[in-house]
Amino acid sequence: MKLAVIGTGYVGLVSGVCFAELGNEVICVDNVKAKIERLNNGEVPIYEPGLKELMTRNIEAGRLAFTSDLAAAVNRSEIIIIAVGTPSLPNGEANLSFIEKVAEEIGQEIHDYKVIVVKSTVPVGTNEKVAAIIEQHASVPFDFASVPEFLREGTAVSDTLKPDRIIIGTESEKAAQTLQELHSPLTERIIITDVRSAEMIKYASNAFLATKISFINEIANICEKVGANVEEVAGGMGLDHRIGSSFLRAGIGYGGSCFPKDTQALIQIAGHVNYDFKLLKSVVEVNRDQRFNVIHKLESILGELEGKTIAIWGLAFKPETDDVRDAPAFEIISALLDKGAVVKAYDPIAAHNFNQSFCRSGIVYCESAEEAALHADALCLLTEWKQFKQISLQEIQKWLRSPNLIDGRNMYSEEQLVGTDFVYYSVGR
Ligand code: UGA
Repeated sequence: MKLAVIGTGYVGLVSGVCFAELGNEVICVDNVKAKIERLNNGEVPIYEPGLKELMTRNIEAGRLAFTSDLAAAVNRSEIIIIAVGTPSLPNGEANLSFIEKVAEEIGQEIHDYKVIVVKSTVPVGTNEKVAAIIEQHASVPFDFASVPEFLREGTAVSDTLKPDRIIIGTESEKAAQTLQELHSPLTERIIITDVRSAEMIKYASNAFLATKISFINEIANICEKVGANVEEVAGGMGLDHRIGSSFLRAGIGYGGSCFPKDTQALIQIAGHVNYDFKLLKSVVEVNRDQRFNVIHKLESILGELEGKTIAIWGLAFKPETDDVRDAPAFEIISALLDKGAVVKAYDPIAAHNFNQSFCRSGIVYCESAEEAALHADALCLLTEWKQFKQISLQEIQKWLRSPNLIDGRNMYSEEQLVGTDFVYYSVGR
């Protein structure tokens, strides 16, 4: 099939590359010309394991190309996939200006029948508005569908090629059939539903996963007080297949470009229909508080943090990504700087992005884990990068001025502590 994918962010780029891998002819569109040039040269603007190889292979096979010419791309395609960003506005609502502009342009440019798909995460009811904008400008018939995306950063390629399910929200049988055909090589679990339910499935899924994380974080906080071990608890709970074992890892709370944005947006969506989504508001509040436990634990060891040197390992919101959007590290480091601590930070790949987004001076960015830890009064592990796990605690102890470790991701085990003098705090253990 011939596809145009509008927007070469995370979702657009990974989807475009993966659809090409399935044998489709894909053209990805972005209005940033410099980005298109880099992509055509095989440069991948995001860090995503496996993506570069797949992209290069499909460009070479002639199945994948990049352009900033939206009109040409949509006119040569049967299916148009919109995957532009919907970032949060200051009030938590999704900013729809990009998607509305693209809808207008598509409407103006199409000259024959198309199936138009929205993959961007948008509030319930938005897809109908997008369809209405296209209709306003289009002189030819088209069908419309919402096909939400469930990929995770860091495992985006395998999530896209082996999805748990595909949700197709459409009122058109023809579009349903075309999209079922497009997605059938990926999975047999394809659900056809109405547009609003498809939109809601995306928000409800992310909100539920965020709820699981905040739930286990609160259980962890109680475990610390009653002397239980949250990993044992999560393991025991997860064996009940009604609960499931995933997303029960306690830590310093969720970050990233999705959960924080989508939980806020769903609270707003509910608010617009006068529904107070109390549970989700608590999930967000628990998540905000959870990261500050790192500070409380540091203070319980070191007392006043003024003048103390704190090493930070990990700035990305999770491992295997250079994405720092809504990473817990921002608030933790801000709080440390507010308290007068000296912060030395290291992340294998996200330090540059962090530095660009963190509007405060005072952090010493280090070239290695060792450099950050050297002579520090305590080490805080905020992202569970594999390379940190490979460093023995004996080694870390030699680097630190005092052997104090706050493990925000429960990365180290009790066995690894044997033979060291660490004052060690993890989460719920
Ligand atoms: C999330 C969802 O998992 C995807 O299904 C969805 O498509 C995506 O949002 C989106 O809406 O685009 P992502 O944000 O890439 O994906 O990352 P996750 O792996 O879900 O992790 C999110 C955050 O939760 C991270 O900060 C991670 O450290 C934290 N987390 C995750 C925990 O603290 N505990 C867990 O058990 C799992």
